[in-house]
Amino acid sequence: MRKRVTVDGRRRTVDESRSTVHRQPSTVSNWWQNYFDAGYLREYEPLFNLEEDRHQVARLIEILGLPARARVLDCPCGQGRHAHLLAEAGFDVDGLDLSTTLLARARARGTGRTLRYRRGDMRRLPARWTGRYDAVLNLFTSFGFFDDPRDDERVIAEFARVLRPGGVLVWHGGDRDGVMAKFVSRDWWTTSDGTMVAQVRSFDPLTGFLTVESNWRGPHGHEDRVHRIRLYTPSRLAELMRSAGLIVEQAFDGFTDAPVTRRTSEMLLVARKEPNRRR
Ligand SMILES: C[S@@+](CC[C@H](N)C(=O)[O-])C[C@H]1O[C@@H](n2cnc3c(N)ncnc32)[C@H](O)[C@@H]1O
Repeated sequence: MRKRVTVDGRRRTVDESRSTVHRQPSTVSNWWQNYFDAGYLREYEPLFNLEEDRHQVARLIEILGLPARARVLDCPCGQGRHAHLLAEAGFDVDGLDLSTTLLARARARGTGRTLRYRRGDMRRLPARWTGRYDAVLNLFTSFGFFDDPRDDERVIAEFARVLRPGGVLVWHGGDRDGVMAKFVSRDWWTTSDGTMVAQVRSFDPLTGFLTVESNWRGPHGHEDRVHRIRLYTPSRLAELMRSAGLIVEQAFDGFTDAPVTRRTSEMLLVARKEPNRRR
């Protein structure tokens, strides 16, 4: 049965007879509290594969140049795709994330003496972690979620606090300059179970929010969801980091060894905590 519904203030037609699941999009504010569930894993499934995870972790190890048993925090760690490979490579790893669904997936890959997961909010890391880590990783656009940009500053300050003096933050995510240079307003793909995912993207230059409306239709029903991310330029992010005592030393085009350019859509920044900085 086809039915007219209102989604995000717009009238749309849905075929109810074909649906087993239909969730209205949650409000955009605080979307990050519920978005990272099984639906997120399904939506981005083509981006998650072990070979690519291994490639990224190999590059991280090359960048960090840390000895075995060095302490690494993967925050947020999601389903643990980098954390478990880093532990396998000989590091002592903590993974922190807010999503119980993704943490359960991470734990299902294995935990142990050198691989621990915990639930938490990246704006408030545990007090006893001060100065604990040789490296903190913030990967796959896990930043810019909050309504208030001061929360983004808080996250950077927390990363700086838990790093030892001289420790390194690796930040990987969307680069506002590059995303604007080749803006993709519509995109679509099909996942392995035949689910068709379509995304419509819009950008607000004043807030810096990239809003992504996703609609997927497939054998498990259909769903409309929305999320948004505040995009930063490399220079603005470097300023934020500097204010927290983290000095950007290198800036790459994603996980390659090429330098960031004005057309880089995913940047990877390497910032070191000032050696004489205590907190
Ligand atoms: C795009 S995913 C990336 C996860 C992981 N770094 C990866 O590469 O797969 C973003 C993650 O941020 C987590 N997250 C969202 N809000 C959070 C918060 N306030 N504190 C901690 N984690 C949060 C989500 O649960 C999700 O796992």
